Amino acid sequence: MAGRLNIIRTHITGVGGYLPERVMTNKDLESIVDTDDAWIFERTGIRERHIIADGQHTSDLAAAAARQALEDAGLSVDDLDALIVATTTPDMIFPSTATIVQSKLGASGFPAWDIQAVCSGFVYGLAQADAMIRAGMFHRVLLIGAESMSRIMDWTDRSTCVLFGDGAGAVILEARDASEDGHGGVIGSVLKADGSYRPLLMARHPHPGASPDMPDMAVDAAGVAAVEMQGNEVFRNAVNKLGEVVGDVLAHCSMQPAEVDWLIPHQANIRIILATAKKLKLDAGHIAITVEKHANTSAASVPLALNSYYREGRIRKGQVLLLEAFGAGFVWGANLVRWSKD
Ligand code: UT7
Repeated sequence: MAGRLNIIRTHITGVGGYLPERVMTNKDLESIVDTDDAWIFERTGIRERHIIADGQHTSDLAAAAARQALEDAGLSVDDLDALIVATTTPDMIFPSTATIVQSKLGASGFPAWDIQAVCSGFVYGLAQADAMIRAGMFHRVLLIGAESMSRIMDWTDRSTCVLFGDGAGAVILEARDASEDGHGGVIGSVLKADGSYRPLLMARHPHPGASPDMPDMAVDAAGVAAVEMQGNEVFRNAVNKLGEVVGDVLAHCSMQPAEVDWLIPHQANIRIILATAKKLKLDAGHIAITVEKHANTSAASVPLALNSYYREGRIRKGQVLLLEAFGAGFVWGANLVRWSKD
Protein backbone atom coordinates (compact mmCIF):
# COMPACT_ATOMS: atom_id res chain seq x y z
CA MET A 1 0.00 0.00 0.00
CA ALA A 2 1.46 3.36 -0.98
CA GLY A 3 2.12 5.67 2.00
CA ARG A 4 1.27 9.35 2.06
CA LEU A 5 4.07 11.49 0.60
CA ASN A 6 5.11 14.11 3.17
CA ILE A 7 6.00 17.51 1.79
CA ILE A 8 8.49 19.28 4.03
CA ARG A 9 8.79 23.04 4.24
CA THR A 10 11.39 25.18 6.00
CA HIS A 11 9.97 27.62 8.55
CA ILE A 12 11.68 30.50 10.32
CA THR A 13 10.77 29.82 13.96
CA GLY A 14 13.23 32.12 15.75
CA VAL A 15 14.93 35.41 14.95
CA GLY A 16 17.72 37.26 16.75
CA GLY A 17 20.20 40.06 16.32
CA TYR A 18 23.15 41.70 18.01
CA LEU A 19 24.84 45.05 17.44
CA PRO A 20 28.04 46.00 19.29
CA GLU A 21 27.64 48.79 21.85
CA ARG A 22 29.85 51.42 20.26
CA VAL A 23 28.07 53.70 17.78
CA MET A 24 30.13 55.68 15.27
CA THR A 25 28.19 58.56 13.71
CA ASN A 26 28.90 60.36 10.44
CA LYS A 27 29.99 63.31 12.61
CA ASP A 28 32.58 61.05 14.28
CA LEU A 29 33.91 60.13 10.83
CA GLU A 30 34.45 63.81 9.99
CA SER A 31 37.45 63.78 12.34
CA ILE A 32 38.90 60.63 10.70
CA VAL A 33 38.58 61.32 6.93
CA ASP A 34 37.68 64.27 4.67
CA THR A 35 33.91 63.72 4.65
CA ASP A 36 30.71 65.15 6.08
CA ASP A 37 27.38 63.96 7.40
CA ALA A 38 25.43 65.57 4.53
CA TRP A 39 27.46 63.77 1.80
CA ILE A 40 27.22 60.38 3.47
CA PHE A 41 23.50 60.65 4.22
CA GLU A 42 22.52 62.02 0.79
CA ARG A 43 24.56 59.45 -1.17
CA THR A 44 23.92 56.39 1.02
CA GLY A 45 21.15 56.96 3.60
CA ILE A 46 23.63 56.13 6.41
CA ARG A 47 23.74 58.19 9.64
CA GLU A 48 25.60 55.81 11.96
CA ARG A 49 27.04 52.31 12.32
CA HIS A 50 28.02 50.01 15.19
CA ILE A 51 31.68 49.11 15.70
CA ILE A 52 33.01 45.96 17.34
CA ALA A 53 34.95 46.40 20.62
CA ASP A 54 38.62 45.57 21.09
CA GLY A 55 38.81 41.94 22.18
CA GLN A 56 35.42 41.11 20.60
CA HIS A 57 35.29 38.82 17.56
CA THR A 58 32.81 38.00 14.79
CA SER A 59 32.01 34.77 16.67
CA ASP A 60 30.98 36.79 19.76
CA LEU A 61 28.52 38.85 17.71
CA ALA A 62 27.25 35.65 16.08
CA ALA A 63 26.81 33.83 19.40
CA ALA A 64 24.86 36.75 20.89
CA ALA A 65 22.48 36.86 17.90
CA ALA A 66 22.15 33.06 18.06
CA ARG A 67 21.17 33.10 21.75
CA GLN A 68 18.38 35.57 21.02
CA ALA A 69 17.12 33.48 18.08
CA LEU A 70 17.15 30.29 20.17
CA GLU A 71 15.22 32.03 22.95
CA ASP A 72 12.73 33.38 20.42
CA ALA A 73 12.17 29.85 19.08
CA GLY A 74 11.90 28.41 22.60
CA LEU A 75 14.79 26.04 21.90
CA SER A 76 18.12 25.20 23.48
CA VAL A 77 21.34 24.78 21.52
CA ASP A 78 21.13 21.00 22.03
CA ASP A 79 17.95 20.94 19.92
CA LEU A 80 19.96 21.95 16.81
CA ASP A 81 21.05 19.61 13.99
CA ALA A 82 23.36 22.05 12.16
CA LEU A 83 24.92 25.50 12.42
CA ILE A 84 25.90 27.69 9.46
CA VAL A 85 27.70 31.03 9.72
CA ALA A 86 27.76 33.32 6.69
CA THR A 87 30.71 35.67 7.07
CA THR A 88 33.44 37.36 5.10
CA THR A 89 35.23 38.47 8.28
CA PRO A 90 35.89 35.16 10.08
CA ASP A 91 37.77 35.11 13.39
CA MET A 92 40.55 33.11 11.69
CA ILE A 93 41.33 31.55 8.30
CA PHE A 94 40.59 28.28 10.09
CA PRO A 95 38.91 26.82 12.06
CA SER A 96 35.57 28.06 10.77
CA THR A 97 33.73 30.72 12.75
CA ALA A 98 30.78 28.31 12.93
CA THR A 99 32.79 25.80 15.00
CA ILE A 100 33.91 28.63 17.31
CA VAL A 101 30.29 29.78 17.71
CA GLN A 102 29.15 26.21 18.41
CA SER A 103 31.73 25.97 21.18
CA LYS A 104 30.84 29.42 22.60
CA LEU A 105 27.19 28.31 22.72
CA GLY A 106 28.31 25.30 24.79
CA ALA A 107 27.46 22.66 22.19
CA SER A 108 29.27 19.98 20.18
CA GLY A 109 28.50 17.10 17.86
CA PHE A 110 26.24 18.50 15.18
CA PRO A 111 27.86 19.81 11.97
CA ALA A 112 28.96 23.45 11.79
CA TRP A 113 30.47 25.29 8.81
CA ASP A 114 30.95 28.72 7.26
CA ILE A 115 29.83 29.96 3.89
CA GLN A 116 31.51 32.82 2.06
CA ALA A 117 29.23 34.74 -0.27
CA VAL A 118 30.16 38.17 1.11
CA CYS A 119 27.08 40.46 1.34
CA SER A 120 24.88 37.70 -0.14
CA GLY A 121 25.97 35.17 2.51
CA PHE A 122 22.66 35.07 4.37
CA VAL A 123 20.57 34.75 1.19
CA TYR A 124 22.88 31.95 -0.02
CA GLY A 125 22.77 30.32 3.42
CA LEU A 126 18.97 30.39 3.55
CA ALA A 127 18.76 28.70 0.13
CA GLN A 128 21.32 26.07 1.18
CA ALA A 129 19.74 25.32 4.56
CA ASP A 130 16.25 25.18 3.00
CA ALA A 131 17.43 22.64 0.41
CA MET A 132 19.09 20.47 3.09
CA ILE A 133 16.03 20.61 5.36
CA ARG A 134 13.62 19.75 2.53
CA ALA A 135 15.91 16.87 1.53
CA GLY A 136 15.39 15.47 5.04
CA MET A 137 19.01 15.87 6.10
CA PHE A 138 18.35 18.22 9.04
CA HIS A 139 15.33 19.12 11.14
CA ARG A 140 16.60 22.30 12.84
CA VAL A 141 19.32 24.60 11.53
CA LEU A 142 20.77 27.76 13.07
CA LEU A 143 21.76 30.19 10.30
CA ILE A 144 23.76 33.27 11.26
CA GLY A 145 25.08 36.22 9.24
CA ALA A 146 27.88 37.90 11.23
CA GLU A 147 30.51 40.48 10.33
CA SER A 148 33.17 42.74 11.76
CA MET A 149 33.65 44.81 8.60
CA SER A 150 35.38 47.61 10.54
CA ARG A 151 38.38 45.25 10.87
CA ILE A 152 38.96 45.20 7.09
CA MET A 153 38.52 48.92 6.39
CA ASP A 154 41.22 51.26 5.17
CA TRP A 155 40.41 54.08 7.60
CA THR A 156 42.17 56.59 5.31
CA ASP A 157 39.86 55.79 2.34
CA ARG A 158 36.73 57.93 2.61
CA SER A 159 35.12 56.20 -0.36
CA THR A 160 34.79 52.91 1.59
CA CYS A 161 35.24 53.39 5.35
CA VAL A 162 32.02 55.42 5.73
CA LEU A 163 29.89 52.64 4.25
CA PHE A 164 30.23 49.65 6.55
CA GLY A 165 29.32 48.53 10.07
CA ASP A 166 29.48 45.49 12.36
CA GLY A 167 26.77 43.18 13.71
CA ALA A 168 25.05 39.79 13.48
CA GLY A 169 21.61 38.43 12.73
CA ALA A 170 20.38 34.85 13.16
CA VAL A 171 17.41 32.64 12.36
CA ILE A 172 16.29 29.21 13.49
CA LEU A 173 15.02 27.15 10.55
CA GLU A 174 12.77 24.17 11.24
CA ALA A 175 11.23 21.45 9.10
CA ARG A 176 7.44 21.19 9.18
CA ASP A 177 5.08 19.00 7.27
CA ALA A 178 3.23 21.17 4.74
CA SER A 179 -0.05 19.57 5.81
CA GLU A 180 0.41 21.13 9.29
CA ASP A 181 1.08 24.65 8.15
CA GLY A 182 -0.50 25.41 4.78
CA HIS A 183 1.88 27.21 2.47
CA GLY A 184 4.05 28.89 5.14
CA GLY A 185 7.84 28.92 5.15
CA VAL A 186 10.51 29.34 2.50
CA ILE A 187 8.82 29.38 -0.92
CA GLY A 188 11.89 29.42 -3.16
CA SER A 189 15.29 31.00 -3.90
CA VAL A 190 17.38 32.12 -6.87
CA LEU A 191 21.19 32.46 -6.56
CA LYS A 192 23.62 34.00 -9.08
CA ALA A 193 27.37 34.63 -9.42
CA ASP A 194 29.76 36.15 -11.96
CA GLY A 195 33.41 36.16 -10.92
CA SER A 196 34.53 38.27 -13.88
CA TYR A 197 33.48 41.33 -11.87
CA ARG A 198 35.86 40.57 -8.99
CA PRO A 199 38.25 43.53 -9.56
CA LEU A 200 35.42 45.97 -8.78
CA LEU A 201 35.07 45.00 -5.11
CA MET A 202 37.50 42.98 -3.03
CA ALA A 203 39.62 42.53 0.06
CA ARG A 204 42.73 40.62 -0.93
CA HIS A 205 44.23 37.75 0.98
CA PRO A 206 46.56 38.98 3.73
CA HIS A 207 49.36 36.60 2.74
CA PRO A 208 52.00 37.99 0.37
CA GLY A 209 51.72 36.38 -3.06
CA ALA A 210 48.25 34.96 -2.42
CA SER A 211 46.62 37.17 -5.08
CA PRO A 212 49.05 36.83 -8.04
CA ASP A 213 46.78 38.45 -10.63
CA MET A 214 46.24 41.52 -8.46
CA PRO A 215 49.38 43.37 -7.38
CA ASP A 216 49.37 46.70 -5.47
CA MET A 217 47.32 45.34 -2.59
CA ALA A 218 45.54 47.94 -0.46
CA VAL A 219 46.38 47.52 3.21
CA ASP A 220 45.31 49.30 6.36
CA ALA A 221 47.66 50.87 8.92
CA ALA A 222 48.40 47.46 10.47
CA GLY A 223 49.25 45.96 7.06
CA VAL A 224 46.01 43.99 6.84
CA ALA A 225 44.22 43.68 3.48
CA ALA A 226 41.43 46.26 3.23
CA VAL A 227 38.27 46.67 1.15
CA GLU A 228 38.81 48.20 -2.29
CA MET A 229 35.80 49.23 -4.36
CA GLN A 230 34.90 51.04 -7.56
CA GLY A 231 31.73 52.37 -5.96
CA ASN A 232 29.79 53.71 -8.93
CA GLU A 233 30.37 50.56 -11.06
CA VAL A 234 29.27 48.38 -8.13
CA PHE A 235 26.24 50.63 -7.66
CA ARG A 236 25.19 50.37 -11.32
CA ASN A 237 25.52 46.57 -11.32
CA ALA A 238 23.73 46.20 -7.99
CA VAL A 239 20.71 48.13 -9.28
CA ASN A 240 20.55 46.10 -12.53
CA LYS A 241 21.21 42.66 -11.08
CA LEU A 242 18.93 43.06 -8.05
CA GLY A 243 16.18 44.37 -10.35
CA GLU A 244 16.54 41.18 -12.41
CA VAL A 245 16.82 38.69 -9.56
CA VAL A 246 13.70 39.88 -7.72
CA GLY A 247 11.80 39.24 -10.97
CA ASP A 248 13.52 35.86 -11.35
CA VAL A 249 12.60 34.62 -7.86
CA LEU A 250 8.97 35.68 -8.33
CA ALA A 251 8.83 33.88 -11.69
CA HIS A 252 10.54 30.80 -10.17
CA CYS A 253 7.79 30.68 -7.50
CA SER A 254 4.97 31.58 -9.95
CA MET A 255 4.17 34.72 -7.96
CA GLN A 256 3.47 38.35 -8.81
CA PRO A 257 5.10 41.52 -7.39
CA ALA A 258 1.71 42.51 -5.92
CA GLU A 259 1.85 39.45 -3.64
CA VAL A 260 4.97 40.74 -1.83
CA ASP A 261 4.22 42.37 1.55
CA TRP A 262 7.79 43.19 2.61
CA LEU A 263 11.05 43.73 0.76
CA ILE A 264 13.87 42.81 3.20
CA PRO A 265 16.86 44.05 1.20
CA HIS A 266 20.60 44.09 1.70
CA GLN A 267 21.35 47.43 3.35
CA ALA A 268 24.22 48.87 1.28
CA ASN A 269 22.70 52.10 -0.01
CA ILE A 270 19.18 53.55 0.28
CA ARG A 271 19.26 54.49 -3.41
CA ILE A 272 19.86 50.84 -4.42
CA ILE A 273 17.08 49.70 -2.06
CA LEU A 274 14.59 52.20 -3.49
CA ALA A 275 15.50 51.27 -7.08
CA THR A 276 14.68 47.60 -6.34
CA ALA A 277 11.45 48.57 -4.56
CA LYS A 278 10.46 50.67 -7.59
CA LYS A 279 10.87 47.62 -9.85
CA LEU A 280 8.43 45.80 -7.58
CA LYS A 281 6.13 48.87 -7.36
CA LEU A 282 6.44 48.71 -3.55
CA ASP A 283 6.01 51.91 -1.56
CA ALA A 284 8.04 52.87 1.54
CA GLY A 285 5.59 51.18 3.91
CA HIS A 286 6.61 47.79 2.53
CA ILE A 287 10.42 48.10 2.68
CA ALA A 288 12.56 47.20 5.69
CA ILE A 289 15.13 50.00 5.99
CA THR A 290 17.90 49.82 8.60
CA VAL A 291 20.80 51.25 6.57
CA GLU A 292 20.46 54.59 8.40
CA LYS A 293 21.37 53.01 11.77
CA HIS A 294 23.38 49.89 10.77
CA ALA A 295 25.16 50.89 7.51
CA ASN A 296 26.31 47.94 5.37
CA THR A 297 26.93 44.95 7.65
CA SER A 298 27.50 42.57 4.70
CA ALA A 299 26.13 39.07 5.48
CA ALA A 300 24.48 40.38 8.67
CA SER A 301 22.44 43.08 6.97
CA VAL A 302 19.42 41.05 5.79
CA PRO A 303 18.88 39.10 9.07
CA LEU A 304 19.44 42.29 11.11
CA ALA A 305 16.78 44.09 9.05
CA LEU A 306 14.46 41.09 9.44
CA ASN A 307 15.08 41.05 13.20
CA SER A 308 14.38 44.80 13.57
CA TYR A 309 11.10 44.71 11.69
CA TYR A 310 9.99 41.46 13.35
CA ARG A 311 10.69 42.80 16.86
CA GLU A 312 8.83 46.04 16.06
CA GLY A 313 5.80 43.86 15.27
CA ARG A 314 5.60 45.04 11.68
CA ILE A 315 5.94 41.63 10.00
CA ARG A 316 2.78 39.58 10.49
CA LYS A 317 1.84 35.93 10.05
CA GLY A 318 0.89 35.05 6.47
CA GLN A 319 2.81 37.94 4.91
CA VAL A 320 5.18 37.33 2.00
CA LEU A 321 8.78 38.54 2.42
CA LEU A 322 11.23 39.01 -0.43
CA LEU A 323 14.84 38.89 0.80
CA GLU A 324 17.60 40.00 -1.60
CA ALA A 325 21.33 40.77 -1.55
CA PHE A 326 24.23 41.68 -3.80
CA GLY A 327 27.94 41.53 -3.05
CA ALA A 328 31.52 41.13 -4.21
CA GLY A 329 32.25 38.51 -6.84
CA PHE A 330 29.69 39.47 -7.91
CA VAL A 331 27.29 37.16 -6.04
CA TRP A 332 23.63 37.98 -5.69
CA GLY A 333 20.32 36.30 -4.99
CA ALA A 334 16.84 36.40 -3.50
CA ASN A 335 14.51 34.27 -1.36
CA LEU A 336 10.73 34.33 -1.00
CA VAL A 337 9.32 33.41 2.42
CA ARG A 338 5.76 33.26 3.71
CA TRP A 339 6.02 34.33 7.37
CA SER A 340 4.58 31.67 9.68
CA LYS A 341 5.45 33.01 13.15
CA ASP A 342 2.83 34.66 15.37
O1 UT7 B 1 27.50 45.56 -0.29
C1 UT7 B 1 28.24 45.42 -1.45
C2 UT7 B 1 27.75 46.32 -2.45
N1 UT7 B 1 28.24 47.66 -2.25
C3 UT7 B 1 27.51 48.63 -2.69
O2 UT7 B 1 26.41 48.35 -3.10
C4 UT7 B 1 28.05 50.03 -2.73
C5 UT7 B 1 27.70 50.60 -4.07
N2 UT7 B 1 28.15 51.95 -4.30
C6 UT7 B 1 27.62 53.02 -3.68
O3 UT7 B 1 26.80 52.90 -2.79
C7 UT7 B 1 28.03 54.40 -4.15
O4 UT7 B 1 28.70 54.30 -5.39
C8 UT7 B 1 28.93 55.17 -3.16
C9 UT7 B 1 28.10 55.57 -1.96
C10 UT7 B 1 30.09 54.30 -2.73
C11 UT7 B 1 29.48 56.44 -3.80
O5 UT7 B 1 28.43 57.23 -4.32
P1 UT7 B 1 28.54 57.85 -5.77
O6 UT7 B 1 27.34 58.69 -5.93
O7 UT7 B 1 28.70 56.69 -6.71
O8 UT7 B 1 29.82 58.75 -5.68
P2 UT7 B 1 31.19 58.65 -6.50
O9 UT7 B 1 31.95 57.43 -6.10
O10 UT7 B 1 30.89 58.84 -7.95
O11 UT7 B 1 31.95 59.92 -5.95
C12 UT7 B 1 31.43 61.24 -6.13
C13 UT7 B 1 32.36 62.22 -5.43
C14 UT7 B 1 33.83 62.02 -5.76
O12 UT7 B 1 34.42 63.30 -5.86
P3 UT7 B 1 34.76 63.94 -7.31
O13 UT7 B 1 35.70 62.98 -7.95
O14 UT7 B 1 33.44 64.04 -8.01
O15 UT7 B 1 35.34 65.26 -6.95
C15 UT7 B 1 34.37 61.34 -4.54
O16 UT7 B 1 35.73 61.61 -4.32
O17 UT7 B 1 32.24 62.08 -4.01
C16 UT7 B 1 33.55 61.96 -3.44
N3 UT7 B 1 33.48 61.13 -2.24
C17 UT7 B 1 33.23 61.63 -1.02
N4 UT7 B 1 33.00 62.87 -0.57
C18 UT7 B 1 32.76 63.03 0.74
C19 UT7 B 1 33.61 59.79 -2.16
N5 UT7 B 1 33.46 59.40 -0.89
C20 UT7 B 1 33.21 60.51 -0.16
C21 UT7 B 1 32.98 60.76 1.20
N6 UT7 B 1 32.74 62.04 1.61
N7 UT7 B 1 32.92 59.76 2.12
